[in-house]
Amino acid sequence: MVMMNRQIVLDVDTGNDDAVAIAMAAGRSGLDVLACTTVRGNLPLEETTDNTLRMLGAIGRPDIPVYAGLGRPFAPRPYPFAPGRSAGLMHESVLPLPPSTRTAESTSAIDWLIATLRATTQPITIVALAPLTNIAAAATAAPEIVDAIDEIVIMGGGHEFGNRTPAAEFNIYADPIAADVVFQAGFQRVTVMPLDATHDVVTDRAMIEQIRALGTDGAAAVAAVLDFYIAGHDASHPMDSPASAPVHDALCVSYLMDPEVVDLRHVAVSVDTTGFQNFGRTTVDVNHRGNAAPNVWWGFSADQARFDRTVLESLRA
Ligand code: RIB
Ligand code: CA
Repeated sequence: MVMMNRQIVLDVDTGNDDAVAIAMAAGRSGLDVLACTTVRGNLPLEETTDNTLRMLGAIGRPDIPVYAGLGRPFAPRPYPFAPGRSAGLMHESVLPLPPSTRTAESTSAIDWLIATLRATTQPITIVALAPLTNIAAAATAAPEIVDAIDEIVIMGGGHEFGNRTPAAEFNIYADPIAADVVFQAGFQRVTVMPLDATHDVVTDRAMIEQIRALGTDGAAAVAAVLDFYIAGHDASHPMDSPASAPVHDALCVSYLMDPEVVDLRHVAVSVDTTGFQNFGRTTVDVNHRGNAAPNVWWGFSADQARFDRTVLESLRA
């Protein structure tokens, strides 16, 4: 059962797939986007914040406030965070959208998250589409806030494969200790859309044209960012079907619109925060060989038709 007007916060490192998720959530998703909080990830904090403001302006939602978060990882990294092979290919520094006419709010994302979650009288859902730096910092500074969060939906991790390294997915690799903190913070429900699921729901140029044909501001902005994203993903991480790409972050919003879009199983997941080859790897105990109790609802696969339906539904007039 999908809760209408469910209150959500989007934590983003906008980037193109974050931009699509923002347009979907702020469109006809049935979700109530309280704010976007931004963090360093795909791009430096200043750029992810500016891109978030640009996307919200382009889709006609300048009413949604943007709070800038942390510009470096939650904990020092033992290994350098060198640019990946796709650097500059999948996420432009500046989205191809008009400059924003406003700035981010003066309150930091961490302070706003803590104050809002302490004061809320109804549950809030966190949709974490970036390295988990902001969420780990807020939950460490104010552990009681986890009780105000009914679910945290995370795009991150990979059981079968990584994308930033052979072992690790980008959002987890960028700040593994933050991810470890979040997976162990005691949230009521942690739901993860990993690469195992996002790679099942690729978007191709035919779908971009279906989106463009919707004729809305949101659809036009999404089509604009997807053009660049698919070209860049195709050049650096080619998928089985040519000129297509997984729009990773969008699957989190799709799940909130239609939980049946993904096959979830309750499993124990841990994060490698010390290794070299496996730094940032999410180890998923699918055969219950460890002693840890299941702590995460993990998406093992996703349904293309259901995903496409939610994308088009959320961007309609
Ligand atoms: O691995 C994909 C994730 O890393 C997505 O959230 C993308 O935006 C990047 O942040
Ligand atoms: Ca992202």
